[in-house]
Amino acid sequence: MVKSKLHVILSAAISIDGKIATYTGDSKLSSKEDSIRLHKLRSKVDAILVGKNTVDRDDPLLTVRHSKGKNPIRIVLDSQGKISQKSKIIKTCKHIPTILAVSKQITKKNFELLKKHPLDIVVCGQSSVNIKSLLKQLESQGITSLLVEGGGTINWEFIKLDLFDEIIITISPFLIGGTNAISFVQGGGFAKIRESPNIKLNSVRRLKNHLVLHYIKV
Ligand SMILES: NC(=O)c1ccc[n+]([C@@H]2O[C@H](COP(=O)([O-])OP(=O)(O)OC[C@H]3O[C@@H](n4cnc5c(N)ncnc54)[C@H](OP(=O)(O)O)[C@@H]3O)[C@@H](O)[C@H]2O)c1
Repeated sequence: MVKSKLHVILSAAISIDGKIATYTGDSKLSSKEDSIRLHKLRSKVDAILVGKNTVDRDDPLLTVRHSKGKNPIRIVLDSQGKISQKSKIIKTCKHIPTILAVSKQITKKNFELLKKHPLDIVVCGQSSVNIKSLLKQLESQGITSLLVEGGGTINWEFIKLDLFDEIIITISPFLIGGTNAISFVQGGGFAKIRESPNIKLNSVRRLKNHLVLHYIKV
């Protein structure tokens, strides 16, 4: 397989027990120091990508605020184009370049609604967004680095498809539990440990009570 030129980093703040949110959707796991680190990283990548549920739950801006630097292009995977018109992403897309990746499942009504905004709407995939072809399109637009900020379902897709190069996770000093709380990696999962991608621990950084682990693909 020809290696994609697009460099993909998976990023999340997780609890000690591997959750990225509580069962109610509370995901405030980062510290101030960790937010500064994350925002510095955001300023160094071309684009940042999240799944639709993360937008629904967190209503993120996905900009660089706790550090200086440029905002990356924002990308939301939203097969049916159901993103809320009241979301911060939609409200700010006039000022921050935003790509909405949808599939052919999108209704005409949703498409027309979204077309009213200065968004770049990319249609790829039949039932859900075809991530491989999306990455090819991003590459052809000159995007060379992509920060994937979840959630767990999207992280699984990138891992299952072997479409990442690095993982940066912050282990935050919390224990969350909950069968229905979202983990760093959701989806179907691998049956055997040997199916896990081969990754190597590159560095460990302590930010007070939080640990930032940096893994790279081998
Ligand atoms: N702690 C952290 O660092 C952190 C970071 C991010 C998120 N979070 C938390 O994670 C939670 C959300 O995670 P989540 O796993 O529920 O959802 P998610 O990964 O944010 O989004 C999943 C959704 O993306 C859409 N999608 C589009 N194309 C897809 C594809 N090819 N494959 C899979 N999904 C595709 C699907 O909805 P459609 O079918 O409607 O398109 C799917 O349900 C939230 O509670 C959020 O707070 C935490």
